[in-house]
Amino acid sequence: MSTLLANISLLVTNDPSAGDGLTGEIVDAAVVIDNGVIVWVGSSAKSPAADERVDLDGRCVIPGFVDSHSHLIFAGDRTAEFAARMSGAAYSAGGIKTTVAATRSASDDELRLRATDLVAEMRRHGTTTVEIKSGYGLDVANEARSVQIARELTAETTFLGAHVVPPEYADNSDRYVDLVCGAMLDACAPHAKWVDVFCDRGAFDADQARAVLRAGMQRGLLPRLHANQLESGPGVQLAVEVDAASADHCTHLSDADIEALAGSTTVATLLPGAEFSTRANYPDARRLIDAGATVALATDCNPGSSYTSSMPFCIAIAVRDMKMTPAEAMWSATAGGARALRRDDIGAVRVGANADLVAINAPSYVHLAYRPGVQLIGSVL
Ligand code: NIG
Ligand code: FE
Repeated sequence: MSTLLANISLLVTNDPSAGDGLTGEIVDAAVVIDNGVIVWVGSSAKSPAADERVDLDGRCVIPGFVDSHSHLIFAGDRTAEFAARMSGAAYSAGGIKTTVAATRSASDDELRLRATDLVAEMRRHGTTTVEIKSGYGLDVANEARSVQIARELTAETTFLGAHVVPPEYADNSDRYVDLVCGAMLDACAPHAKWVDVFCDRGAFDADQARAVLRAGMQRGLLPRLHANQLESGPGVQLAVEVDAASADHCTHLSDADIEALAGSTTVATLLPGAEFSTRANYPDARRLIDAGATVALATDCNPGSSYTSSMPFCIAIAVRDMKMTPAEAMWSATAGGARALRRDDIGAVRVGANADLVAINAPSYVHLAYRPGVQLIGSVL
């Protein structure tokens, strides 16, 4: 059955051939969907007939947000760690171990319930596609159940067994890397699409990260990387070397890193919730965009460095503090996320794409940054 979505004050298509600018905007638009797929997009005046009509009442409609980076499979609480940071303590990768201990002692149902609640929370904030990582199990059984639970919630599952070195391997990280590359990947690869490594201070070096990515790729997983969050290091160059879909964080970038990203198909995924919650400087989106790199925005939702599920919050920060225009931030939170997941069926409103649409209770998506912290997400289709 076809449905005409009528009376849209402003439609973001992300298709520059369909409308104005980077975000392909159409004023006074309509969309027809059939069986969950978009079958017609254009101006209201030309809209075709459909089996039913839904009046959007002059709202702005955008593609559903694509949150291409989250860590939702965890248990426990790190409120005190956040409060300590806000009193001056520094963030370190060491905090991850607190969540690992809690995750290992949680039941499958506790992990499933927490993740399901967070996905529902994301949806209320307009997210229609989410990538979910493992990475708080750090042994074969706990990583395997983490990716399996993630797989119940999304097709975009990522194996992050190389998040940090767990305490039992503290004096021999290479032996842990061998475990990740062997038995752990054997158990996890069948449930994952992506392989990720935290390549940074306090986590894994470039050789270790390369070994994990290559072992994952040999099993058919596609690479992505946590890179250059805590310091300027080899992560971004490694991401480009292995043609990773995305280098995530990109907080500390050299000119060479920016050049490498701009000359590659690796998306720079910026996670401003992490800088917000660790009181760090934001990444320089302007430098990346001006150099020609593709930028995505995502939440990094996790209990340590960024416990937000809200893409509108990330957009507001990106516009206010990362020198992104509202249109750029909108594109990065939708089409950019789709690129970071190497998907062309989401992140845009065009014929043939999934009908993942969000109606905003405002005449323009600019209100997401203009009215920060206000719940403007109306219906999520
Ligand atoms: O992406 N950087 C590594 N991992 C997460 C943080 C995880 C945590 O602190 O629990 C991140 O920010
Ligand atoms: Fe992360």
